[in-house]
Amino acid sequence: MHSVRKKSVRLLAVGVVLVAALTLVSRSTQPPVQPFDPAHRGLAGNPDCAPCHAADAAAPLGPRHPPKDDCLHCHPPAG
Ligand code: HEC
Ligand code: HEC
Repeated sequence: MHSVRKKSVRLLAVGVVLVAALTLVSRSTQPPVQPFDPAHRGLAGNPDCAPCHAADAAAPLGPRHPPKDDCLHCHPPAG
């Protein structure tokens, strides 16, 4: 009886850790699509993004942003 409860507590702990880890991983690897707003309509590629997303622009990329060769490859336009 006692050991069965211990086992299920351990199983539960493993499950919680797994879910947390998967959530973190999927969060950090899913690039967000471009917002569906006027600023993001009809843009062709990197040179169109720089005015707003360059390091010194209005909406700079975060420090954890992956390499940024081709914006549209990872961030397709919405809609
Ligand atoms: C006119 C300014 C402007 C241009 C040009 C622009 N953006 Fe943005 N972008 C913003 C602003 C401001 C935000 C943050 C606010 C928001 O979500 O609308 C943003 C947010 C984003 C986000 C984050 C969405 C999210 O859910 O976190 C992505 C991805 C993005 N832009 C991609 C691009 C790409 C790719 C281009 C070029 C093809 C581009 N943007 C061009 C202003 C711009
Ligand atoms: C290799 C894929 C990839 C490329 C190429 C890429 N991005 Fe991203 N981008 C991501 C991922 C993944 C995230 C989410 C980062 C996070 O969660 O920390 C992201 C997040 C963003 C965000 C939200 C703010 C932030 O920093 O988290 C913006 C805005 C953005 N990218 C714009 C761009 C622009 C503009 C370019 C081109 C200069 C670009 N991205 C190229 C994968 C990419």
